[in-house]
Amino acid sequence: MKKKFTLIATAAMGLESIVANEVKALGYEEVKVENGKVIYETDELGIARSNLWLRTADRVKLLIGEFDATTYDELFEKTKALPWEKFIPEDGEFPVIGKSHKSTLYSVPDCQSITKKAIVERLKQKHGVARWLKETGALHRVEVALLKDKVTLTMDSSGSGLHKRGYRTGQGEAPLKETLAAALVQLTNWTPDQTFYDIFCGSGTIPIEAALIGQNIAPGFNREFAFEGWEFIPASVHERALEEAEDLANYDQPLDIYGTDISHKMIEIAKDNAMEAGLGDLVKWKQMQANDFHTTSSGGYIVSNPPYGERIGDRQEVEAMYQKLGNTLKQYPTWSVYILTSNENFEKLYGKEASKKRKLFNGFIRTDYYQYFGRSE
Ligand SMILES: C[S@@+](CC[C@H](N)C(=O)[O-])C[C@H]1O[C@@H](n2cnc3c(N)ncnc32)[C@H](O)[C@@H]1O
Repeated sequence: MKKKFTLIATAAMGLESIVANEVKALGYEEVKVENGKVIYETDELGIARSNLWLRTADRVKLLIGEFDATTYDELFEKTKALPWEKFIPEDGEFPVIGKSHKSTLYSVPDCQSITKKAIVERLKQKHGVARWLKETGALHRVEVALLKDKVTLTMDSSGSGLHKRGYRTGQGEAPLKETLAAALVQLTNWTPDQTFYDIFCGSGTIPIEAALIGQNIAPGFNREFAFEGWEFIPASVHERALEEAEDLANYDQPLDIYGTDISHKMIEIAKDNAMEAGLGDLVKWKQMQANDFHTTSSGGYIVSNPPYGERIGDRQEVEAMYQKLGNTLKQYPTWSVYILTSNENFEKLYGKEASKKRKLFNGFIRTDYYQYFGRSE
């Protein structure tokens, strides 16, 4: 019989519903969405597939147990009662990280050390180890998370965060996280047969994510995951997921994607990143001032993350640039334009009310995603 696992795909604030859609698209229909997480059940192949395919999730965690605790004794006993030996072998390394919010047990270092002690005791008993556990083997990073006295114990199956696709060789001052860039693309109605532009492309994250989406390339194809070192998941599982990803990739899909930026240096970095992502010269890169945008195409998509002008002295310049951008792009009413910025006056400066707005966080910066739908011809 296939083993069942409960997975928690963590998501940045505001991206939960997009992660949930991605999980459903993988065939896991029963999802529960909470603040910052999407919870669902899979078999072991699902752990590999989720890590390989989820474009907008931060990490995929395996739920080990959940219970209420208001004393350290309770935390210790209930943690020790969980079947850790099924997941962590005798030599497994298992650092414990923690967080606590609105809970009686508020000291995170204490929660971590109690959890660690409880797991050590359980593993020593079950693996028959008399002295200490060597922890020289594969990494099983445990998290103890307390929220309103409810304890959630998980193991991180991703390793480094899923935004680390393995293609970023260089970046500018304010690179967009790959997960957010993928979300920006997925929030549009763009289809791979349509023209796509990022006119403030920086290190190229948005056009690269669009190209990966356009050819249905799994974003985690070129990296490693923590679960690959886990004994209870046979190596064949990851291989199967990789084979499936190879079969599903549509390298023949023609794309018409452009990345332009005022900075020559950023264009060079973007080119290198696209090469590293295995896209060759599929994306067309060009040094260009955004206000020189010109096209004869009857329609397309512009998806961009321009400078926000948050630094003192930059604001005026950026606001003048937004004004010019509005004038430039009003010549193309059939194009759809999507702009992520923290500037609350954007619509006024751009000279047009957005068809739709969505609040999103770019790291800790609160931004709005201004969406202007192109007029159909
Ligand atoms: C916030 S960054 C974009 C980061 C990008 N999304 C990434 O992931 O690397 C803004 C970019 O806009 C470029 N830029 C600034 N003013 C510009 C202008 N007038 N025209 C075109 N690009 C401009 C900067 O060189 C910078 O790379």
